[in-house]
Amino acid sequence: MKLVVGISGASGAPYARRLLDFLAADGVRHGVEVDLVFTRTGRQIWRQEIGDEPRYPFPSWDDQDFTAPFASGSALYDAMVVVPCSAGALARIAHGVSIDLVGRAADVMLKERRRLVLVLRETPLSLVHARAITQVLEAGAEVLPASPSFYSAPATVDALVDTVVGRVLDRLGLPNDLMKRWEGSAPRAQGPVEEP
Ligand SMILES: Cc1cc2nc3c(=O)[nH]c(=O)nc-3n(C[C@H](O)[C@H](O)[C@H](O)COP(=O)(O)O)c2cc1C
Repeated sequence: MKLVVGISGASGAPYARRLLDFLAADGVRHGVEVDLVFTRTGRQIWRQEIGDEPRYPFPSWDDQDFTAPFASGSALYDAMVVVPCSAGALARIAHGVSIDLVGRAADVMLKERRRLVLVLRETPLSLVHARAITQVLEAGAEVLPASPSFYSAPATVDALVDTVVGRVLDRLGLPNDLMKRWEGSAPRAQGPVEEP
């Protein structure tokens, strides 16, 4: 699988870091080739939230470099994840505004009918956001809000982050055990049926 990971300027760099850590460790085993692109604000927020520069063994593209292979449908990339996805990036994608490489790559994914997963991070949502979400869903993207779950009783922030990143990997069809999966609760004991 040829995969683009786009990182835009929303809070949530730990989600991107966890995904990239997983792909750096296990991506080759799963046959995944990764290309990376940060928006300018995405890189700035990464520094702020992670406290370090991103260092990964993947080709990393400038967000104004439209010579990247995945800026063209002919390069046959399979999927793209935007994580985190800012409301601004969502709006650009919803309207085909390809003024940066994240927007262009997402536009290519939609026109080529490839998998596009947007890990949206914004709250609360306005009607503008809701309409943009509808628009990208209609165009074939998947919107996976950066909305952690608690039913697995995550004990650490990393475990909480994994409840989102595990779902991203599921969307990409990549086997993972990042989160404990729900197996149902034990059925409640039934008392004797009372006669009316
Ligand atoms: C520290 C920080 C946190 C931000 N968090 C969010 C956020 O969670 N969601 C969002 O939509 N925008 C957020 N923004 C605003 C976006 O970064 C801003 O709209 C920017 O234009 C997005 O650019 P991009 O889409 O090119 O990455 C944040 C900005 C800063 C500086």
